Amino acid sequence: GHPHIARHGDALQIEGQSLAALAAEHGTPLFVYSRQWMLDALAAYQRGFEGRNALICYAMKANSSLGVLRVFAEAGCGFDIVSGGELARVLAAGADPAKVIFSGVGKTRAEMRQALAAGIACFNVESEAELEVLNAVALEEGQRAAVSIRINPNVDPKTHPYISTGLKGNKFGVAHDRALAVYQHAASLPGLRVLGIDCHIGSQITEASPYLDALERVLDLVEAIENAGIALHHLDFGGGLGIDYNHDTPPAADVLWKQLLARLDARGFGDRKLVVEPGRSLVGNAGVCVTEVLYTKPGEDKNFCIVDAAMNDLPRPAMYQAFHQIVPVVARNEVGGVADATIYDVVGPVCESGDWIGRDRALAVRAGDLLAVLSAGAYCMSMASNYNTRGRAAEVLVSGERATLIRRRESIEDQLRSEQA
Ligand code: LLP
Repeated sequence: GHPHIARHGDALQIEGQSLAALAAEHGTPLFVYSRQWMLDALAAYQRGFEGRNALICYAMKANSSLGVLRVFAEAGCGFDIVSGGELARVLAAGADPAKVIFSGVGKTRAEMRQALAAGIACFNVESEAELEVLNAVALEEGQRAAVSIRINPNVDPKTHPYISTGLKGNKFGVAHDRALAVYQHAASLPGLRVLGIDCHIGSQITEASPYLDALERVLDLVEAIENAGIALHHLDFGGGLGIDYNHDTPPAADVLWKQLLARLDARGFGDRKLVVEPGRSLVGNAGVCVTEVLYTKPGEDKNFCIVDAAMNDLPRPAMYQAFHQIVPVVARNEVGGVADATIYDVVGPVCESGDWIGRDRALAVRAGDLLAVLSAGAYCMSMASNYNTRGRAAEVLVSGERATLIRRRESIEDQLRSEQA
């Protein structure tokens, strides 16, 4: 899962750069990303779509830092956005608006206007009410908005309930049974131009079967919609492919897509333009969060390893009981400091019992040691907050010989700037 993160001698490196040296230079907590890992992850999708008409739209919510967006923009990627803020970011990073698609259940009129003005490729519309509003906004602007309607295929992605999105009980998309009627209505609205169909069934999916099920369900609808005389130019299968957090074994993107494309071909849709919206699988294992051990604290039930990163930096354990591997940056036993590992709960300084990064981890550490929280490239910095008035961490992008500070540590002045007493 982490080919660009390796231990050399006793020290952890990312693309050959020492994490300890980067932490000494920039402080902790510090996110460090490998640009090559991102490009390799993207290449797996590109291989999967070789010879096809396909657009890979990086779901930038996974990591929306400008320096990361730039990597994908330079590689010719499209982007999946979910807010006007994300649109502004992606344009600032040099993305081509004609490769931007706009997802999300709650687009505002202002965001719709902003996206129309930018000339994005397509709106992924999630409800009948949104269709009406988008139609009205487009007419006011003298435009026709290109739309794709997000279908809820009602398949179980077999992932955490908070990140499964394609089940009946979820707030996302239009129910399978309503889809044809909604398409017919969309096709009748003068401010809209029906372009495609889309679905997204969840995140951190580690099996191919939910994708295959969703594909069949979507293709059934494509047939019904086209039989009703509405042409669909692209098929968007969303994102969701998982990564290796804890010996997880998701299919590789190219293998998964070869399999899905075979089904698509078998059903006669192989010539359609394909769109995908991967987020986590393009960045998740590209990054680590380096954190310093502040204190070790033996307890009656548990031993605590208190580090300087917290739930505001790494929200996934608190929110989803997510597992991230935690490893020493310089292994203690190798430098001869501590003989035996102790079982710790690794926790942050935030005043909540939910502020934990890892539970029951065997670590040989002392105050002042550095730990690396792995698989921290996706949904960490982009979900970071200022809770407890903690400034957000700094970020470094490593590309071979170069290590670039792509985000400086947030200062207290940054935090206070928009407030007044
Ligand atoms: N497309 C849509 C419409 C989405 O809602 C999402 C993610 C994606 C694409 C990208 O999915 P990915 O390839 O990253 O799985 N914060 C959670 C994950 C939330 C995913 C939200 N939607 C976590 O940390 O696990």
